[in-house]
Amino acid sequence: MLYFKEMEHRTIIFVTGNEHKIREAEAILSPLGIILEQNDCGYPELQEDELESIAAFGAEWAATMLNREVMVDDSGLFIEALGGFPGPYSAYVFDRLGNERILKLMENEVNRKATFRCVIGYCCPGAKAQVFTGEVIGEIAKESRGNSGFGYDPVFEVDGVTFGEMGEDEKNRLSHRYRALVRLAEWLRVRH
Ligand code: IMP
Repeated sequence: MLYFKEMEHRTIIFVTGNEHKIREAEAILSPLGIILEQNDCGYPELQEDELESIAAFGAEWAATMLNREVMVDDSGLFIEALGGFPGPYSAYVFDRLGNERILKLMENEVNRKATFRCVIGYCCPGAKAQVFTGEVIGEIAKESRGNSGFGYDPVFEVDGVTFGEMGEDEKNRLSHRYRALVRLAEWLRVRH
């Protein structure tokens, strides 16, 4: 379903420096009539345990700074056997440890359950941010597989297939990001 018709499509600034996130979000939102413009001005990332507060703060900060309708994406991988680690510290851990060290930590672990969460923070200048969360439950693979995607994609699998092995289209039909973005689009359709 097209949420916003061609002539009245809506443009949102997506504040991110991550080219993969923008490509995925464009593929998900453009069929719904939402156009994205990338801006990589960045935003201060709060050191918080909740992705929601990080995304809300970032969206409000960017909306004020750019004086435009904006969204940000804060995502994290929560591994059950590691007490939810790396969770909100996923970017830091990925940069310093990478997938191979995560696999090493999980080497003898039987419980491989993990949840990928994406929180989209959306804000108009002068308003409070809204947050939309999407989750997908999967497992940490035994080894890294697939070259598609980015970040933890090669080690996160759903029904035995890693995000790295899926084509972008398949990932975009079931991912945490897809689920969060559809919630945003639905909210915008009803509210505006
Ligand atoms: P952030 O949302 O940019 O802070 O991302 C946290 C970490 O998770 C970074 O290392 C990202 O590369 C990684 N990440 C975020 N979204 C995804 C995804 O869809 N697949 C795989 N890794 C992701």
